[in-house]
Amino acid sequence: MRLDKYLSQRLGVPRSESRRLAARGSVTVDGIICKKADTQLDEHTAAVCVDGRPLAGQYQQFVYIMLNKPEGVVSATRDGRDTTVTDLVAGDYPRRQLFPAGRLDKTSTGFVLLTDDGALAHDILAPGRHVEKEYLVTLDTPLTPEMSAGFAAGVTLADGQRLAPALAEPAGGDPCRVRVVLRQGVYHQIKRMFGVYGAGVNALHRCGIGGVALDAALAPGAYRELTEQEVETLRAAARR
Ligand code: URA
Repeated sequence: MRLDKYLSQRLGVPRSESRRLAARGSVTVDGIICKKADTQLDEHTAAVCVDGRPLAGQYQQFVYIMLNKPEGVVSATRDGRDTTVTDLVAGDYPRRQLFPAGRLDKTSTGFVLLTDDGALAHDILAPGRHVEKEYLVTLDTPLTPEMSAGFAAGVTLADGQRLAPALAEPAGGDPCRVRVVLRQGVYHQIKRMFGVYGAGVNALHRCGIGGVALDAALAPGAYRELTEQEVETLRAAARR
């Protein structure tokens, strides 16, 4: 691979910038200053440094970020008023066009997947793919067997929309705490589903997407990249 292409991929900068870096003598290949942008190198074995610092990690075509969304942050890329989920990570990914693959309400918390892989996001969100999303919900009233049975059969919303079967089971401890698993993504879905039974939602936390659990070590507002294994798990869930 040409040096300027290699630098552009690894650093996420335009080729012109890579050529400038090389021309000013900032780049070494296997310990030797290399000013020629068209130098050919083996991208698997070459030791390339910029200003003495080795380039870390492999070039990633796409990034996949697990964010623990705090309350009050909106699931959007841009918003005139509120902080968005992409605002929270933008400092670390200035050149990536990241977007949330699926939304959480402003008042909800938990797992938001941020990525620039449009194909995977589409597959996760596509209604026909049925990727599971898991939530921990706190109701203003205890969960009843009627609610659980209604979720299992498929709730009909107040506007007549018939939803796919879903799971609502006691989360243990407090009878108002409920584990909900959905395979659909309808606006305000959980709040509207419980609303059919006259129950209000006091708190809603997404703890898993497609078999990938939100990392318990992530405080609200914290994020990390998914491991390769987690990306593979998501891909498999979206393929099913
Ligand atoms: N259902 C809701 O009502 N709100 C969310 O944020 C997610 C699912």
